[in-house]
Amino acid sequence: MTTETGAGQWGTALSMACSYFGLDCKVYMVKVSYEQKPFRREVMRTYGASVVPSPSDTTQVGRKILAEHPGTGGSLGCAISEAVEVAVSNPGYRYVLGSVLNQVLLHQSVIGLETKAALDKYGIKPDMIIGCAGGGSNLGGLIAPFMGEKLRGEADYDIVAVEPSSCPSFTRGVYAYDFCDTGMICPLSKMYTLGSDFIPAPNHAGGLRYHGMSPVLSQLYDDGLMRAVSVSQTAVFEAAEQFARVEGILPAPESSHAIRVAIDEAMKCKETGEEKTIVFGLTGTGYFDMVAYEKFHNGEMDDYIPTDEELAKFRARLPKVN
Ligand SMILES: Cc1ncc(COP(=O)(O)O)c(C=O)c1O
Repeated sequence: MTTETGAGQWGTALSMACSYFGLDCKVYMVKVSYEQKPFRREVMRTYGASVVPSPSDTTQVGRKILAEHPGTGGSLGCAISEAVEVAVSNPGYRYVLGSVLNQVLLHQSVIGLETKAALDKYGIKPDMIIGCAGGGSNLGGLIAPFMGEKLRGEADYDIVAVEPSSCPSFTRGVYAYDFCDTGMICPLSKMYTLGSDFIPAPNHAGGLRYHGMSPVLSQLYDDGLMRAVSVSQTAVFEAAEQFARVEGILPAPESSHAIRVAIDEAMKCKETGEEKTIVFGLTGTGYFDMVAYEKFHNGEMDDYIPTDEELAKFRARLPKVN
C-alpha cells in the first residue's frame, strides 16, 4: 500500500510511520516550507518518503494553481489538493491529513490527557491554556480534557488559540462552509476560514499557514468557549529566542506563537501581582527551522499583515451555501 499525505509543515512523523510499516510514502510539502525548512524535508527523505514541493506540475490541480498564481509559495490547501488527486487516481493509494480533521484532534488528545494527569498529580489547576493554532490539532488535543470539564460546568479555564497575524483565520476569518483545499476537490466543512484560495505572504516563516481552522475548534470558538489572538512573526521569534536563552530549549516557530502569548500573559501578572498558572503547548523543536532563525538574526524578517481589502477579496469567493 502507498500512503500519500498533504502535509504542509507536518508530515515528518507520518513519513516515519509509513517507512516503519514498509509503506511507500509520498509527501506534498508546501513549497515555501520545502525551501525554508530543508531539514524537515530531509528527515522525511531519510525515512524513505519522496517529497514534492507543492504546488507542482505533477498533478492537474497543481498545474491549475500554478497557472492562476505563478510563482506562488503554496499553502497547505494546495498540498492537500495535490495529494488527494494523486490518492484518488492511483490504485492502492490512501490520503492522510496531519491536521484539522476530528481524528487528528482525537489522536493529539493524548497531549491533553498527559498534561492533565501531570497537573492533577501535583494538585495544580491551570488558569490559562495556550496553544498555537494552524489547523487546530495540537490545540484541540491539548485542551480536550479541560474543555470537557468546562462544557460539563465542572471547571473554568481561559483557553487561548494563537495564530499568525499573516494567516488570521480565527481572528479575521468568517464562520462559513468552505473547501478544505485550494483546488476545491475536498468536501466542504463549516469552519472559521479566510477562503480556500488564501495564500499567506511568502515571507511568512512561522508555519501555521492554513486558510481554515478545525471545525471542532471553530464551533467552540463561535460558542465563546475559547478565545483567539494573532501575533506577528518577528514578535514570535523574539519570544523564541528569549525562551531558548532562559530554558535551553530551541522551540519550533509554530510553538513560539504560544510562547509569545504565555510570556505576555506572565508579564501582565508580574505587573498586576495576580498569580496565574499558565499552561502552553510546546509542539516541536526548532532545529529544523534554522533558516528562519537565521533570517530573524540577520534582520531579514518582516511582518506582513493582510489588509481588510485583501481579505474581503478571498471572502467574496467563498462557496454559496443555502
Ligand atoms: C511544530 C508544529 N507545531 C504546531 C503546528 C500546528 O499545527 P496544528 O494547528 O494542526 O496543531 C505545526 C504545523 O504546522 C508544527 O509543525
